Amino acid sequence: MNEPGKLYVKTFGCQMNVYDTEKIYAFLQDTYVPAASEEEADVIILNTCSIREKAENKVYSQLGRFKPLKDINPDLIIGVGGCVAQQEGERILKRSPSVDVVFGTHNLDELPAMLEERKKSGKRICRVREDTGTVPTADAPRVMGGRGATSLLTIMKGCNNYCAYCVVPFVRGREVSRPASEILDEAVFLVEKGVREITLLGQNVNSYHDPDTGAGFVSLLESMELLPGLERLRFVTSHPKDFSPELAHAMADLPSVCEHIHLPVQAGSDRVLSAMKRGYTSRQYMEKVELLTKLIPEVEFTTDIIVGFPGEEREDFELTMEMLNTVKYQNIYSFRFSSRPGTAAAAMKDPVDADVKRSWLPELQDLQNQITAEKHRNMVGREVEVLVEEKDNKKNGFLEGRTRNNYIVHFPGDPELLGKIVRIRLTNSRAIHVMGEMVN
Ligand code: SAH
Ligand code: SF4
Ligand code: F3S
Repeated sequence: MNEPGKLYVKTFGCQMNVYDTEKIYAFLQDTYVPAASEEEADVIILNTCSIREKAENKVYSQLGRFKPLKDINPDLIIGVGGCVAQQEGERILKRSPSVDVVFGTHNLDELPAMLEERKKSGKRICRVREDTGTVPTADAPRVMGGRGATSLLTIMKGCNNYCAYCVVPFVRGREVSRPASEILDEAVFLVEKGVREITLLGQNVNSYHDPDTGAGFVSLLESMELLPGLERLRFVTSHPKDFSPELAHAMADLPSVCEHIHLPVQAGSDRVLSAMKRGYTSRQYMEKVELLTKLIPEVEFTTDIIVGFPGEEREDFELTMEMLNTVKYQNIYSFRFSSRPGTAAAAMKDPVDADVKRSWLPELQDLQNQITAEKHRNMVGREVEVLVEEKDNKKNGFLEGRTRNNYIVHFPGDPELLGKIVRIRLTNSRAIHVMGEMVN
């Protein structure tokens, strides 16, 4: 048998891509072992993201940097997959001469054959399948999507929502759920590998439906709850329009479901929410927040926000600021609006001056930093349960983990504790995490 080659996959974008990267390694595991660096790889694959213009540009600048590697090693194969590949296809081959293989988000399973073909024929190949309505990752070998004790598990692909700004429905196709039996099977495999926390992934997990039985997301959570050895269950993303009172009750009642919810609000103004086609008002959103807070006292919220949507005025933006002050998010992921080709918002005019809007994002982030800092200070003195996820890569002898309600905790400890759940007394607050020490 031939020596296996070395494969390096570089991941951009969201957790879907993190999971798909694991699948890419798995699809190629018979012929390639993971490379420690780009320099030693025989095949480099970029798993790309096109959610914002900046994300897409990163891909092209990265491709430019591979040219010298190709000069040193002419046999090096460079592949581009993911959302930019799905959208740009052949154009990537034209624009970047160093790229050998382009594959779409529905073509992961074809990758082994494509790489073989490239080696044999020397021809550059592009395969971007139209949405086939099937789950592309379903036939892949099962993988660990994560770091030791925690893992991702994709339960559905695609999205049917067509929010006005968003490219995802175009690059990931229609929404398709995986059968619950297959998800549970993969979960059992993960737990047997030592995983104690699983994060279920989908663009809108609330609209999950088992294609075999029609059962919904709450029913899937209930089945997951029964898995012995699975301590913690999380899920992203929940679309607020589909977040039901039934799900709030399930979160409160199922012991493994963690007391944290990522509920992307996007904007605080109803005018903007409607232009975004989000399907809820700020009042409806707040009702869900209030119900969760009532049912789960320890619950923490995180969110996504877009600042400067076409037509958004200062008074709209101030309603988003107000939202932050009301909900008191643990953390936010906030972005300047980026116009994406093919989306409804790309055709919308924006009468508001771009220079005026420029300052809004840092203003929002300043406010959130104060809120996060205050929440971290409030945690000091408390005793919490932490799942130890990894070594603190900045501080020798320190470990890093998370509380059930999503606070990141750093504390001194032995690496033998990795994957264990420990009790920590919190001692000091920091910007991104809280410091603590173990309680005997
Ligand atoms: N399915 C998730 C979002 C996935 S994309 C949901 O519905 O919430 C992750 C985040 O990127 C979005 O929540 C949004 O805040 C941001 N985003 C998406 N498209 C964007 C765009 N064109 N410009 C700026 N931010 C965008
Ligand atoms: Fe994009 Fe909206 Fe779908 Fe989320 S729900 S992926 S923001 S279209
Ligand atoms: Fe980016 Fe594609 Fe995810 S566009 S955010 S990698 S679904």
